[in-house]
Amino acid sequence: MVNVAILGFGTVGSGVAEVLAGHEGSIARKADGLIRLKYILDVRDFPDNPFRDCFVKDFAAIEGDPAVDIVVETIGGTGAALDFTRRALEAGKSVVTSNKELVATHGYELTRLAKERGVCYLFEASVGGGIPIIRPLSQCLAANEILEIYGILNGTTNYILTRMIRAGLSFDAALKEAQEKGYAERDPSADVDGHDACRKICILAAIAFGRHIYPEQAPTEGISGISLADVDYAESAGKKIKLLGRAIRREDGRVCVYVAPHLVDHSDPLAGVEDVFNAITVRGDSIGDVMFYGRGAGKLPTASAVVADVMDVARNLGHRKALSWDEGGEDAVCGVEELRSRWYVRAAASADELRIALGGKLPAGRGTGSGEAACLTDEAMTRGELDRKLAGIETLSVMRVLD
Ligand code: HSE
Repeated sequence: MVNVAILGFGTVGSGVAEVLAGHEGSIARKADGLIRLKYILDVRDFPDNPFRDCFVKDFAAIEGDPAVDIVVETIGGTGAALDFTRRALEAGKSVVTSNKELVATHGYELTRLAKERGVCYLFEASVGGGIPIIRPLSQCLAANEILEIYGILNGTTNYILTRMIRAGLSFDAALKEAQEKGYAERDPSADVDGHDACRKICILAAIAFGRHIYPEQAPTEGISGISLADVDYAESAGKKIKLLGRAIRREDGRVCVYVAPHLVDHSDPLAGVEDVFNAITVRGDSIGDVMFYGRGAGKLPTASAVVADVMDVARNLGHRKALSWDEGGEDAVCGVEELRSRWYVRAAASADELRIALGGKLPAGRGTGSGEAACLTDEAMTRGELDRKLAGIETLSVMRVLD
């Protein structure tokens, strides 16, 4: 029998308990043995909860119990979660988590510690919720050189953009609706400012390219500046606005990682990913493009990924499942300013002024009303080149085009 302790009985932690109890028989069959929930750590009291006998308030009870094999960390953040994860690994226990912030900021240290102690640190649920992506990327696609990973990594912002595009809601109205439906937090900045997507693309980049990429190394832009004028122009050009996280390997081995809104062509499968769904495309040198699609958040989808990691550890108890990468550094990344792409520009100018400034073959432009115009460049260029062409013109919105 394998004993599990859950740290944090919030949405994901309680989902893990429910899935472990609800699927006990089939989990035991697939994991080659019973997995028992022995402890739940939470500062709150849950006297009427069916798992009430499992609750403890002091992590030392779990840390000091040699019968606990696997600790599930669903506290979130980098405070107690980091302390307890370090202590659990030091105590020779494997740790499974859904905590993207902790993996994105301390993944190098924690995977190395797990390696030294001969245990596992697994985090399938940290990216894409219930969508399998960490294991496919690290195992099934391992024979490929990964060239690029890009995707819609945040359900809340995808919901907001979908409502702006489909219902013509303003950003503020769509955000309010997302909050009413329970998708967006009361303080929505981690989602709408792109930080949640940034943490996820940093984790994927570390696995794919072998070095830790810290969130502060990845320029991050959210969706709060997007207006209905941008949405309308994108539609008229056959494109949809999507918030993408991207990690692109350059020829010199450095990786460019960033999060920003992009214009995506209707023919790209990402354009059809709507509401709270997530999708991630991985481009490998042998396989070409592979896309992973599904529910990127939510109690049971995320819990299912956590429990699958628990089962993986249980099946391989005593055999460490290596998932680690090297330390990052300045030389691991290249600046986003080196990336060339086509651009969408909305500016305080007439369509003719904008076309003349952008020069070359005239891009299709059109007035968007009240002294504004928008267009897509035909030519790929860096942001610096674009800014030089637009010198003297006030830009209102600038986004990359995903080609
Ligand atoms: N708030 C996140 C999202 C869920 O909307 O996708 C988990 O990262």
